[in-house]
Amino acid sequence: MTFTIFFATSTGKTEDVADRLKELLPGAEAKDVDNLGSSDELVAADALVCCVPTWNTGADEARSGTAWDDLAQEIPSLDFAGKSVAILGLGDSSGYSDFFCDAMEELYTAFLQSGAKLIGKVPTAGYTFDASKSVIDGKFCGLPIDEDNESELSDQRLAAWVQQINSEA
Ligand SMILES: Cc1cc2nc3c(=O)[nH]c(=O)nc-3n(C[C@H](O)[C@H](O)[C@H](O)COP(=O)(O)O)c2cc1C
Repeated sequence: MTFTIFFATSTGKTEDVADRLKELLPGAEAKDVDNLGSSDELVAADALVCCVPTWNTGADEARSGTAWDDLAQEIPSLDFAGKSVAILGLGDSSGYSDFFCDAMEELYTAFLQSGAKLIGKVPTAGYTFDASKSVIDGKFCGLPIDEDNESELSDQRLAAWVQQINSEA
């Protein structure tokens, strides 16, 4: 099982995390979804890690403010049946505590509708925030990373999560 890491970024933090994730997933490539020829590249991947920042604070739709927003509209009509997909979100749990990593849920739901097997859910324990659309049935639907306030925790969060998604894929 080879993961391909797909990311989008506005100020570079998600790209940096995607690069660090790549080091932990031997053989993985990291691709900026802004540069995709088409969504066929998503479908062609063996297994996917999708890394998404949240910017469009409080919005119901288009929460990331990146190329993921258009892809989230398209993904439900694509065929990811049975394919392992893990979501990773960048956010700010202090400055945007009511909307922490909200964009993860948009991608999660889009992939669920496409038939994908969603892996990599994470307990909320260890995070301090008020609300997040990405908490589903008591768990985050992917891995939240907070480079604004808790960057010292990111590497250990990434390492533990890589073990988890490798075992769930
Ligand atoms: C204008 C603005 C809006 C933001 N809105 C949210 C938000 O609603 N929820 C959240 O968790 N983080 C929010 N953030 C924080 C970013 O998601 C965070 O800084 C992230 O690491 C940026 O990733 P990027 O550099 O890859 O774009 C916001 C940041 C800015 C500047």
